[in-house]
Amino acid sequence: MGLGMVLGSHLSPLSRSHIEQADVVFAALSDGIVELWLERMHPDVRSLQSYYGDGTDKPRIDTYREWVEVMMTEVRAGKKVCAVFYGHPGVFAWSPHEVIRVAREEGFAAHMEPGISAEDCLYADVGIDPGRCGCQHYEATQLLFYKTPLNPQAYLVLWQVGLVGDLSMKRFSTGPEYRQVLVDVLSHDYPLDHEAIIYRGATLPIQQPRIRRTTLRELPDTDISSEETVVLPPTQSLTSNDEILRRLTEIDRAQITSANTNGGI
Ligand SMILES: C[S@@+](CC[C@H](N)C(=O)[O-])C[C@H]1O[C@@H](n2cnc3c(N)ncnc32)[C@H](O)[C@@H]1O
Repeated sequence: MGLGMVLGSHLSPLSRSHIEQADVVFAALSDGIVELWLERMHPDVRSLQSYYGDGTDKPRIDTYREWVEVMMTEVRAGKKVCAVFYGHPGVFAWSPHEVIRVAREEGFAAHMEPGISAEDCLYADVGIDPGRCGCQHYEATQLLFYKTPLNPQAYLVLWQVGLVGDLSMKRFSTGPEYRQVLVDVLSHDYPLDHEAIIYRGATLPIQQPRIRRTTLRELPDTDISSEETVVLPPTQSLTSNDEILRRLTEIDRAQITSANTNGGI
């Protein structure tokens, strides 16, 4: 389940009751204080942080596989297991989806309880409505590994820019050269003076969101932490599809004519 982003205020009553009723609670949270808060809700909270190792030589995917295995070991032992992740457990997170897949494949009941994600906070704090002109979300490194068509008429939200381009899957941050590659890729669709918004939502009730505005050109020389998300506003206006609008008008007209005719009978 998801604990949400802000300590104390984002946890739903249903998620809290799942935590309280579990035999074992695993935790992958944004910081140690949140873990301490969770420990007040349950006597057996097991942090998943230590599986990262010292952060230098272990591919993250190995850590995430270990998380699945350690959770499944308790499930197979007949325990009621609850795994708590910060934000929404199903948003840009591999292990929560994977452990549910494995559990169901082995015949256990498994369920994902949503949480308030960084995306939800971003819409509120930056003042973006994804329905205004559409919104596309990408993991920044994936955008470099795959040729991805972007829609410059919609918002572009880039996750994990702080470690963009990390081929090794071992690092937790990468430098300006890597962000320059990202900018070069983005520059096919966006001018270099286009606005880039760097967003960090609050995780403690005493914090305020941090919103920095820069340009695509400046992005390589701007430090971006692992807890920040980058947003590019649209660079082109929506263009009306006149052919489809004409077609819809004709359907409307035909329906009015038919209603009038039927009413006449
Ligand atoms: C592995 S993803 C996890 C996302 C999480 N499951 C969620 O629901 O938001 C990590 C990425 O989430 C974003 N993120 C995490 N914490 C954030 C925060 N406090 N403010 C803005 N973005 C954040 C960043 O893009 C970061 O690189």
